[in-house]
Amino acid sequence: MALGLAGTLLTSEQIAERVQAMGAQITRESTGADLLVISVLKGAFVFTADLIRSIDLPCQIEFVSVSSYGSGTESAGKITVRQDLSIPIKGRHVLVVEDIVDTGTTLAFLRERLLDQSPASLRIATLLDKPSRRKTEVPVDYVGFAIPDEFVVGYGIDWAERFRSLPFIGMIGELPE
Ligand code: IMP
Ligand code: MG
Repeated sequence: MALGLAGTLLTSEQIAERVQAMGAQITRESTGADLLVISVLKGAFVFTADLIRSIDLPCQIEFVSVSSYGSGTESAGKITVRQDLSIPIKGRHVLVVEDIVDTGTTLAFLRERLLDQSPASLRIATLLDKPSRRKTEVPVDYVGFAIPDEFVVGYGIDWAERFRSLPFIGMIGELPE
């Protein structure tokens, strides 16, 4: 059987409502200080764009790119930094924005790397969490949705660079013949 887009996990309405609530919570729990948002490319770019517009604080945006997956649906294991921050984060209030925490390997690596630079605070927001897949524990402050062990796409998230532009979160699975 061929693999492809096999169903919807989260509609665009469900996502919009949850992202709005996450932004409101982040605003409420902030100290009021300017936020440095670090978006993890490429998967988090759509989520970041929506989330920052629901956070009622001055935000500066940075992007980092780390590779964790090859072209398939399994982790390549080794993490490399493809694009690093363009400014120092020492003394800044940082919010890392991720698309999915799966094994936790990527985020744990990134978190250590950022903490080495002594930010004033570091919090982590992820749209999706697959807790059943965790191999490396990493503290996540804001979770949009805990989801089952499905390979998902859409809303910025890809399968071998496909499906990022879907407005909803879909699942990859076997297609009927
Ligand atoms: P981890 O290091 O295993 O936690 O992997 C995290 C990264 O792998 C996420 O930020 C995604 O970019 C990617 N990833 C994990 N699960 C999926 C999925 O279901 N679809 C697409 N990408 C995924
Ligand atoms: Mg990611």
